[in-house]
Amino acid sequence: MKILVLNGPNLHLLGQREPEIYGKETLHDIETLLISSFSDQDILFKQSNSEAELITWIGDAPAEYDGIIINPAAFTHTSLGIYDALKAISSTVPAVEIHLSNTHQREEIRHKSLTASACIGQIMGFRSYGYVLGLKALVNYIESNR
Ligand code: DQA
Repeated sequence: MKILVLNGPNLHLLGQREPEIYGKETLHDIETLLISSFSDQDILFKQSNSEAELITWIGDAPAEYDGIIINPAAFTHTSLGIYDALKAISSTVPAVEIHLSNTHQREEIRHKSLTASACIGQIMGFRSYGYVLGLKALVNYIESNR
């Protein structure tokens, strides 16, 4: 199975960025964790600070990928464009939304996700392990809906 793991703005700063909220692991550590936990899956890990780039990657996904794991980061709360892109491909490429932190315990502006309703599910609050949980759920969903 080919899985695209997308990470939004500022997630390249993980490790140094508010470690009390996001943990001490870098994005590279999370990539290594996923690849070692799912050695039977073909995983491509990407990060961008650009909303346009993320939208393009999502739109192009059906040509290559079976599923998407996405942490849209701050775009979660603002991007109708990412919601539309996920919605556009949702019948062929299911997505799971991940957040390292529990956004419901944080500022009110982070309580609303514009993107979650275009995904099959959402996992938050378990830091890097959320990516493992999300990928497990995504693989199970794809296998049981084939
Ligand atoms: C985040 C939560 C968002 O509110 C925030 O803008 C991020 C990271 C998380 O993984 O907890 O950049 O998506």
